[in-house]
Amino acid sequence: MTFDIDAVRAQFPALQTGTVYLDNPGGTQVPQRVLDRMTDYLVRCNANKGGGFRTSSESDAIIAAAHAALADFLNCDPREVVFGANMTTLTLHISRSLAKWLKPGDEIVVTRLDHDANVAPWLLAAQDAGAVVRWVDVNLADATLKIDDVTQAITPKTRIVAVGYASNAVGTINPVKHVIDLAHAVGALVYVDAVQYAPHGLVDVRALDCDFLVCSAYKFFGPHVGVLYGKHDLLDRLPAYKVRPAHDEPPDKFETGTLNHEGIAGTLGAIEYLEWVGDPARGYRPLAQVSGERDPERRARLARGLAALETYEHGLARALIAGLQAIPGVRIYGITDPERVSERVATVSFTLAGQHPRRVAEQLGEHDINVWDGNYYAYEIVRRLGLDEGGGMVRVGPVHYNTQDEIAALVAAVRALAT
Ligand SMILES: Cc1ncc(COP(=O)(O)O)c(C=O)c1O
Repeated sequence: MTFDIDAVRAQFPALQTGTVYLDNPGGTQVPQRVLDRMTDYLVRCNANKGGGFRTSSESDAIIAAAHAALADFLNCDPREVVFGANMTTLTLHISRSLAKWLKPGDEIVVTRLDHDANVAPWLLAAQDAGAVVRWVDVNLADATLKIDDVTQAITPKTRIVAVGYASNAVGTINPVKHVIDLAHAVGALVYVDAVQYAPHGLVDVRALDCDFLVCSAYKFFGPHVGVLYGKHDLLDRLPAYKVRPAHDEPPDKFETGTLNHEGIAGTLGAIEYLEWVGDPARGYRPLAQVSGERDPERRARLARGLAALETYEHGLARALIAGLQAIPGVRIYGITDPERVSERVATVSFTLAGQHPRRVAEQLGEHDINVWDGNYYAYEIVRRLGLDEGGGMVRVGPVHYNTQDEIAALVAAVRALAT
């Protein structure tokens, strides 16, 4: 299918302002459909759940529809989708619950490539349970996971393996399926952080066979909401930290308190937008027309949309890497070989000799070009690269709504700073 970048950009009110948004790994902009969903929710059906009146039942219908949409997005059952405040809070909840299943001497595997939200909760769980933590290191030359370390770290005592799908710092896509197979061979559970993969490619929890997987809607064009997938049997058996009157079944038992209903409606809107990318001619259905059932055609539209934007983003990544590499004093951390572009998402981090990353970001900001700097909570890899003291790296994170012109503007602005 063709990818019409002008039609895509026209969906996003924030993109009409002239700002170049390359801070996307920190959070993406939202299309009009997300705004419409949130406004519609707050105007037409703003209520608490389970009441005996219209607005409450319509609110319940929207939330059920959002579970079904996320089930199509991740390829699971709607009851396996848990909404929460954000990925970090959901992970702290699940890690606390899983710690109840651990005993002293059990082992947990974490990596030095992960965002700290998929490390610290496991360090805390290990501390609570007296479990041992084993670390998987990184090949510094291309910022990929050391696969030998994974093989060695996973032992018959391993109970949990926490691994990221794609790095928020250097863009590496990890061989998660391989890690999951190694972990399952010893009976361990696998917790996948897909926060940085979900905006760039189709997730399939059934094909991966992961036990848990988390992502954040605000990184895939939705509002500030976290999403957790868990195998139904595990969510069912796992003890939840919850209040007594709340339901005992998943997902309710993990969706503690009153959720961000308008944010969940907006998350439904983000999935509808990605469907639109896969089939723009179909347009959008009326806002009130929602279903709590899965829809195989929606999954097919999402697959088409994400495949189209993946190919488009490869072109942006190649141009970005080649452009930055040609600037004297720029050093990129991560995969730079254009032949290996499918092993990374388009997120590229670099340093510029003699310039503090914050100063680079500020100067780009003066040109209305948004990039991030620092360690972005990718705490271990930035320390491992020896960059923490110097302010980390500058991170440029294109997504499918960015253009080759924007990449060229960024490269020109960095070149001007270098000279
Ligand atoms: C890879 C990764 N994991 C986890 C998180 C934390 O997500 P949240 O803000 O939803 O807690 C982030 C946020 O930047 C991230 O990039």
